Amino acid sequence: MPMGCPFLSLRFSLFLSLSFATSSSPFSFFKLQSPSSSIPKATPSDLLSLLATPSHSSSVNPSVADELKSCFKFLVPFNPSNTRSSSDFKSPSSRRSLLKSPRDEQNELIWWPPEPVLELARLAFDSGGGPDSIHRALDPTVMPVPDVEGSKEDKCELTRTPYGRRFISQELNSYLEYLFKLIVERGPDVGLKVSLNRYDLFHGHLFIATETGRLGILFHAKEYPLYDKQVFPYYLGYCQKDSNVTYDDSINLRNILWLAPLPSNSTQGWIAPGVLLVLDAHPGGIVYRDLIPEYVNVVRTIYEDDLGNVVVDVNYLNVGDSQPDYQIFIC
Ligand SMILES: *[C@@H]1O[C@H](CO)[C@@H](O)[C@H](O)[C@H]1NC(C)=O
Ligand SMILES: *[C@@H]1O[C@H](CO)[C@@H](O)[C@H](O)[C@H]1NC(C)=O
Repeated sequence: MPMGCPFLSLRFSLFLSLSFATSSSPFSFFKLQSPSSSIPKATPSDLLSLLATPSHSSSVNPSVADELKSCFKFLVPFNPSNTRSSSDFKSPSSRRSLLKSPRDEQNELIWWPPEPVLELARLAFDSGGGPDSIHRALDPTVMPVPDVEGSKEDKCELTRTPYGRRFISQELNSYLEYLFKLIVERGPDVGLKVSLNRYDLFHGHLFIATETGRLGILFHAKEYPLYDKQVFPYYLGYCQKDSNVTYDDSINLRNILWLAPLPSNSTQGWIAPGVLLVLDAHPGGIVYRDLIPEYVNVVRTIYEDDLGNVVVDVNYLNVGDSQPDYQIFIC
């Protein structure tokens, strides 16, 4: 696990965040210590630009770009020059038959998702970031969120509302499930051990990027680490009870970003393929320094609202009784 400054141990950074939380001092230890304090602050928009086309990337300050890129841990190879015109999509079965391995096929589903996902991405883009495009794609039926792995007994409410919905298109719902599963499957490739349960990975925030209209989901893993007097002395409410997520360096990798392909402004084609990556927020790195608000630096949360207009939360919950039964709830 890369740590920017070796002496910034976990406990030490906790101490810092605790002491600074109660002081009004403008003094910031990390900024003074940072070897790169002279470079401009990275913005969420820089982050998104680097994941779009080469021309978007070139608008980012080169030092910022280098530092940000060093924090990108791709779950699917990043291939920005892989673009598509609309006619390339006429025969999806023929393009799939050209593929070699199951792994390639999984990658392809991130670069160029199925038609209903592309349609949603296009609608979001054309709407100029308005949430209605997404809302209209949802089935109006509301489903109560059932018990999730004993959450009710703990009075834990995992979702923003006690009921949820699904997309009308079953393929869209399946694609969301696919994203959750792929994160779990490939996380270990980049050092992220993650599992689908109510303490760890169960949700993401679907947003439309403010400047580009690009559709994305920011997933948060490691949501409820176990309270521990030594390593994690924070109460996070009912949902934290009996957590089996221990607070350790894996918290650095809790922000996982999916972006849909970026539509072309002028044609029905696409100027950038989809991406799936982990944003490494180790202390000392630029993500930690510039993209994580100081008051949540202990839990390394990048806020979805910083990336765009948040439309809905996407939850993938195990609502099974004795057997696991994972279902999508959009809240
Ligand atoms: C779309 O094109 C217009 C005109 O060429 C331009 O002003 C605008 O910035 C473009 N939008 C995006 C998202 O690229
Ligand atoms: C926590 O519990 C879940 C579900 O019971 C399990 O899948 C997961 O592997 C456990 N995680 C750890 C770190 O033990």
